[in-house]
Amino acid sequence: MAEITNKSPLLDTLGRTHTSLRISVTDRCNIRCFYCMPNENVRFRPRHEILTFEEIERFVRVVSQMGVHRLRLTGGEPLVRADLPRLVEKLARLPGIDDLALTTNGILLPELAAELRSAGLQRLNISLDTLREDVFQKISRRAGLDQVLAGIAAAQDAGFQRIRLNAVAIHGLTEDEIIPLARFARERGLELRFIEYMPLDAEKHWQSTDVLDGEAIRRTLEAEFGPLVPVGRSHPSQPASDFEYADGAGRVGLISPVSQPFCSACDRLRLTAEGQVRNCLFSTAEWDARALLRGYATDDDLANLVRDCIQKKAPAHGIGTTNFVRPERAMYQIGG
Ligand code: 5AD
Ligand code: SF4
Repeated sequence: MAEITNKSPLLDTLGRTHTSLRISVTDRCNIRCFYCMPNENVRFRPRHEILTFEEIERFVRVVSQMGVHRLRLTGGEPLVRADLPRLVEKLARLPGIDDLALTTNGILLPELAAELRSAGLQRLNISLDTLREDVFQKISRRAGLDQVLAGIAAAQDAGFQRIRLNAVAIHGLTEDEIIPLARFARERGLELRFIEYMPLDAEKHWQSTDVLDGEAIRRTLEAEFGPLVPVGRSHPSQPASDFEYADGAGRVGLISPVSQPFCSACDRLRLTAEGQVRNCLFSTAEWDARALLRGYATDDDLANLVRDCIQKKAPAHGIGTTNFVRPERAMYQIGG
């Protein structure tokens, strides 16, 4: 494999260096969370539009020469992509990639956790917004909480360290989930992070009043567990504010993209399942890597496309400002 000519880091006009790539491997999912997907009649991309594992691997080889060294696989739900452990194996072998993670809804983990681990997956984030089946069904509009819980247990049995739970926080719906989720995570030695609901729902119902903000969650946690002690960010671009419980039993994080945007420290770029490069979840433009991957383009051409995308990255998403425009795509079409 030839090396690219310009290996300088992926720096944007604001001095942000891009070292982390989120790869969506499918837009499909086995549930239908309202903050992400439509409930019925979802129009998925046809199979031939979705990047092959070989195309994804080539893209990663190119960006890794420009300093991208952390990867996260997302979806849709990444585990519904056939043969996913084979992709994990390919990516885990690439020189220059030192962090390989995956975000999943957990439903297929009972079948796949051990295989993913032996394929070289290093870290797992599992979505868990509630411990109650009725609330789970209100959110995901399908059954499945028991499978998710079995999936979490399977991930622990498979030997994954530092498993993280992601809980989307929704005003008027998940206030009563905060304490039970925190207890659940503390008892099992899992890290828990609450994420503010962002305007990326396919049905476009999001309103700013639906956001259960990080400060409110912090107050709820402190009333139950005592003062939360901030822990320094392990990485400046890390979106979460992490805390230790006063009794030392575990950690909890608050991700507040809406109430406290962290755009100024962003180091992420994204590749959608059908091969479009994006510089932001909320970007309204995309750069067509698939056309290059399937044409006669060189690795340098691909590298230039990514550089151009990063060059044009906006300073911030602007949610809450008058200029804010929702992206055309919903979360499942971008990759969380
Ligand atoms: N706002 C916040 N988080 C979301 N997720 C999906 N849609 C949204 C949204 N609109 C979360 C999922 C998962 C991760 C990929 O993103 O719950 O944890
Ligand atoms: Fe599926 Fe994840 Fe979207 Fe829920 S948030 S519908 S689990 S892709």
